[in-house]
Amino acid sequence: MMAFISPDKGKETLSSSPSDAARDQLPWVEKYRPSDLDHVLAQPDIMNTSTQIECLMCLVKKFIEQGRLPHLLLYGPPGTGKTTTANAVCCALYGAKWRSQGSVLELNASDERGIDVVRDQIKTFAETRGLQSNTMGTFKIVILDEADAMTSAAQNALRRVMEKHVRHVRFIILCNYASQIIPALQSRCTKFRFSPLQDGDLELRLKQVADQEQVQLTPEANQAIVRLARGDMRKVMNVLQACAAANSNPTMAIGEDLVYAVTATAHPRDLDAAFTILLQESSIRMAVLKTEKILQDNAMALSDLVTALFDRLCVYEIPKEIRGPLLKAMADCEHRVSAGVNVHESIQLRALVGAFFQARLQA
Ligand SMILES: Nc1ncnc2c1ncn2[C@@H]1O[C@H](COP(=O)(O)OP(=O)(O)O)[C@@H](O)[C@H]1O
Ligand SMILES: [Mg+2]
Repeated sequence: MMAFISPDKGKETLSSSPSDAARDQLPWVEKYRPSDLDHVLAQPDIMNTSTQIECLMCLVKKFIEQGRLPHLLLYGPPGTGKTTTANAVCCALYGAKWRSQGSVLELNASDERGIDVVRDQIKTFAETRGLQSNTMGTFKIVILDEADAMTSAAQNALRRVMEKHVRHVRFIILCNYASQIIPALQSRCTKFRFSPLQDGDLELRLKQVADQEQVQLTPEANQAIVRLARGDMRKVMNVLQACAAANSNPTMAIGEDLVYAVTATAHPRDLDAAFTILLQESSIRMAVLKTEKILQDNAMALSDLVTALFDRLCVYEIPKEIRGPLLKAMADCEHRVSAGVNVHESIQLRALVGAFFQARLQA
């Protein structure tokens, strides 16, 4: 595990912001983004998937030292440090001012990235000489952020560009799911899997940033933020900043209620109540009405309720005759809701309530 960034170090490593005033205006996600590989937190299981031995940061540093940076494919859930790592690699290669040097082409999902972009923009960038010298000779970097959004035709075109220009250009491909990247590209890259950060790391970082921004949180609020983030550091930063902005009385510590309010999530006690209703209410009609009311009162989507119920089903002691069918019912419900049938959420809610009643009959 890498050492945690100390508050002062955090300030120092913010290369992209020229002055304190400019930096203060950045969202905290950017303000506290480490710019240096040593300060990117490596989870014990960010491994190179082919070696499974060395941690990502050590390996990337070794690549840079030896002047043998391969194409990289960094994948994993949001807020785990993929973009930060790609930026830190550029910083290690070209120095803190890498963005203004023209050695890096950054493309993300908001840019058009069809086959034409690969043919034109990336190829032009790759073919243009006038390379900056860096610590390992002369090559440029293309960062393809959120590459799962690229069409497979564009990925196929990229394959040839990658091969043709490998002497002058390295690609860093970032995505949530490696499976969305065509095998031919995957096999040209060294792959690293990022996993959700550990709660302890999120908590420590949360406390450091809160201290630095002079935001006070109750221990319950701290815990709530970490729990809601589920390993996503971006969410921690955004929720903290939203709470700080929403706190009407900055002399008072932020409590957990504000955390739930700004994230539009239900308080655990309401989720417990929903869970109890589904397991114990004797009338289906009442169960539907009560659950609907909880959803409405908390402005909650059904998919959030399903996720919360799922957590409870995993933790609480429930006979396996009930747990099994319920897990399947929830997975189905979650699938249907996420597949875009939100307009019929009330039908899905009834199906879920029905599944609970059916499971209870089997116990
Ligand atoms: N491993 C990490 N170490 C330190 N900070 C992190 C890490 N992962 C994410 N963060 C923080 O969370 C925010 C989002 O990180 P980012 O690298 O953009 O995530 P993503 O994996 O979605 O690309 C940044 O502000 C960054 O400071
Ligand atoms: Mg990213």
